[in-house]
Amino acid sequence: MTLAGRRILITGGGSGVGADLAKGFAGLGADVVISGRRPGPLTDIASQADGISAIPADVTSEDEVAALYEMAGPVDIVIANAGASVSAPFGKTTLADWNAMLAVNLTGVFLTLRMGLNQMTGWGRLISIASTAGLKGYPYVAPYVAAKHGVVGLTRALALEVARTEITVNALCPSFLDTEMTDRSVANIVEKTGMEPQAARASLVAHNPQKRLIQPGEVTSAAMWLCGPGSEGINGQAISISGGEV
Ligand SMILES: NC(=O)c1ccc[n+]([C@@H]2O[C@H](COP(=O)([O-])OP(=O)(O)OC[C@H]3O[C@@H](n4cnc5c(N)ncnc54)[C@H](OP(=O)(O)O)[C@@H]3O)[C@@H](O)[C@H]2O)c1
Repeated sequence: MTLAGRRILITGGGSGVGADLAKGFAGLGADVVISGRRPGPLTDIASQADGISAIPADVTSEDEVAALYEMAGPVDIVIANAGASVSAPFGKTTLADWNAMLAVNLTGVFLTLRMGLNQMTGWGRLISIASTAGLKGYPYVAPYVAAKHGVVGLTRALALEVARTEITVNALCPSFLDTEMTDRSVANIVEKTGMEPQAARASLVAHNPQKRLIQPGEVTSAAMWLCGPGSEGINGQAISISGGEV
């Protein structure tokens, strides 16, 4: 499959899934723009493959997302991948944490996809990286779970609006991934419970019936499929990549 001639914007492209998406899509010949708040990781990933350029932006800021699209120029594929998680028992969840989780994981996707949609003129693909947390609950991350369920709802609603166009919108829903975000979750469990790091990691792996973390490349493969030939009928879906967890 080739995506030569296609231009793609990936938020959160400086690490984890976003970096893998960037390198994968660049490998198919696409012209890739990656974004995130920290310029360092973005330029590092951009230096690792031809066809990747970096534009820093915070997806929670409407002005910064608008400036990002202005600088990037027209794009055919948008992947709203930027996200973050914090954990706390529900009773101890602060309003600041609640607002921060909704801002990056839900409002950030809204702004990224809305501006992405508005600049599309023909064929287009809108993809968000949601989570199995968009399809089921997990303890101690209620704001994250609420935000990811919101992304799935947004995807289903928008799919009906674009159904008569050449644009599709879908959410990919991985379970625990082998990325820095999961490393931070492990560190957090260790700090809060005194558990050994290996046991903390095993407690996350245990959610997946295949008893493993999902690799970023598996998310990239699914995203490529959604952009490839024969994908026109896949619209408004929340696709679980979880070894059968959900
Ligand atoms: N890790 C998991 O187990 C897991 C499971 C299911 C779904 N997901 C989802 O997969 C996506 C990618 O996560 P990952 O695992 O690859 O984690 P990651 O390595 O921590 O990547 C998250 C990226 O988002 C960027 N980001 C965070 N806040 C941002 C903001 N306000 N504006 C712009 N960029 C922002 C970060 O860059 P900066 O800090 O430089 O901004 C970072 O590059 C996320 O949406 C996450 O919720 C993760």
